[in-house]
Amino acid sequence: MTKKIPEPFRIKMVEPIKQTTKEYRVKALAKAGYNPFLLKSQDVYIDLLTDSGTGAMSDRQWSAMMLGDEAYAGSKSFFKLESTVRKVFDYKYVVPTHQGRGAEHILFTALIDRRKEIKNVTNPVFISNYHFDTTAAHVELTGSKAINVVAEEALDTQTYYPFKGNFDIRRLENTIRENKSDNVVAIILTITCNSVGGQPVSLKNIKETAAIAEKYDIPVVIDSARYAENSFFIKQREEEYKDWSVCEIIRETFKFGDVFTMSAKKDGLVNMGGLCCIKNREDIFKAVQVRCIPFEGFVTYGGLSGRDMEALAIGIKEGTDEEYLRYRIGQVAYLGTKLLDNGIPIQHPAGGHAVFIDAARMLPHIPADRFPAHALANQLYIEGGIRGVEIGSLLLGRDPKTGKQKDSDFELLRLTIPRRVYTNDHMDFIVDTLKELLSRLKDIKGLTFEYEPPILRHFTARLKYID
Ligand code: F0G
Repeated sequence: MTKKIPEPFRIKMVEPIKQTTKEYRVKALAKAGYNPFLLKSQDVYIDLLTDSGTGAMSDRQWSAMMLGDEAYAGSKSFFKLESTVRKVFDYKYVVPTHQGRGAEHILFTALIDRRKEIKNVTNPVFISNYHFDTTAAHVELTGSKAINVVAEEALDTQTYYPFKGNFDIRRLENTIRENKSDNVVAIILTITCNSVGGQPVSLKNIKETAAIAEKYDIPVVIDSARYAENSFFIKQREEEYKDWSVCEIIRETFKFGDVFTMSAKKDGLVNMGGLCCIKNREDIFKAVQVRCIPFEGFVTYGGLSGRDMEALAIGIKEGTDEEYLRYRIGQVAYLGTKLLDNGIPIQHPAGGHAVFIDAARMLPHIPADRFPAHALANQLYIEGGIRGVEIGSLLLGRDPKTGKQKDSDFELLRLTIPRRVYTNDHMDFIVDTLKELLSRLKDIKGLTFEYEPPILRHFTARLKYID
C-alpha cells in the first residue's frame, strides 16, 4: 500500500474546473491539431503540463502583495527579496529577472565575455548534467555548444537509483579535456535534473563536480529551479545528511556554486519570477547588471513588479518548510508508486515535481518518430481530460545540419504536479484514467506532422494520426 500524506493546508479559495464529456474532448483535441499545448485550459480537467508558475500561493504571500513598492528604482520590495536570498543561499549579489530564462539570457554572454578576458576561448562549450531545453537554447544562441554528461543510471528507467540526476564524473572530466578546459565557459548543475525525470543530485556528486571545476578553473552555475526538492531528497536519501535541516542542506549545496540562475516559478512558489545571483564575483555581477537593464529592466526589478518580489521573498522561505516538502514529494511519490503498482512503467523512482511515464515501453508498436509519448498524452486527455506533456523525440526535434530527427534517450510522458493545487483524490483519478487505457494500448496510433515549426516545434506543431 502506498501512503497518502494529507495536505498540510486547508483550502480558503477554490477555482471551479470543468468536467467535459469524451465526445467534447475528441473534438477539442482535433481542433487543437492533436497537440495538447494548443488546447484551451478551460477544456482541461487536471492540468499537468507543468509545475512552472502553476502553483497556489499562500495567504501570507497574497497579503504581502499589498505591500509591494512599485518604485522604478530602489524598491523596498527588492531589498526584502535581496535580504531573503542572502539569508537562504548566502550569495551576495542578487539580480531579479522575469523568469528563469531571463536569468540565463543575461548571464551566459557575460560569462563568455569574462572567460575570453582570462583564457584562450576558441570554441565555447557549457557542460551540464542535463541542460533544460531553454537553457540549451540560450547556450546555443550565444554560438556555444551544450553538452550533457548525466550518469548512465538515469537512462535505465526501470531500476531504482537514489540520485539519477548525478553527473557522470569521469565523463565530465573527459569532456573538459576533449574540449580543452579554456573553452568550458561553465559547468551547469541542474537541481533537480528536470530532463531526466526531476531526479536529484547528491551532495557527494555536487562536491566532486565542484572539485573538478576548481581543478580546471571553471565557474559552476547552479540551475536551481527545484533547489528545495533536491535538498529534501538529499535529506531522505543521503545518509550523511539525514539529521541536517533542509535549510542547512540548501546552504551547503550553494557553497559549491559561483552563480545561480533560478526559475522562481517552481520551488520559489510564485506564478512569475526569476533570479540571477552571484556569490562573490563582483565582475560577473557588474556584467550581468549591464545586460539586465536592456533585456529585463532596471537592476532592482528585472521585469518584476514590487508585489511579485514581495511574494517571492516569502515563497523562497515557504518552499523550504519541511512539512510542506514531505507532503509535496510524498504526493508525487504516491502517484508514481500507484502507477507502478498497476503495471504502468515510469522513470523509477518518481521525481520531485513529476512522474515520467515510459511511453516507449507502454507503446512499443509506435516508433520514436511517430511520438509514442505524445500519442499517450492525447489518449489521456480524451479519456479523462488530463493534460500531460511529451518529453521525447517530439520535443528534441531535428538535427539543424542534417534535418534528421535526433535520437532521443527517452520517450516519456511527464505528469507534472503543480504545487498545492490538486488533492490526493486527483492523483487517484489520474491513476484510474491511465488504468482505463491499459486494455486499449495496442489500438493507439502514432502521429506525424501536419504543420512542423522550424524550432521549438512541440509548442505549436499540428499533428495527424497515421497507421
Ligand atoms: N531550468 C530548469 C531546470 C527548468 O525546469 C526551467 C523551466 C527553466 C530553467 C526555465 O525557467 O520557465 O522560468 O524561464 N521549466 C518549465 C518546465 C518550463 O515546464 O519544466 P523559466
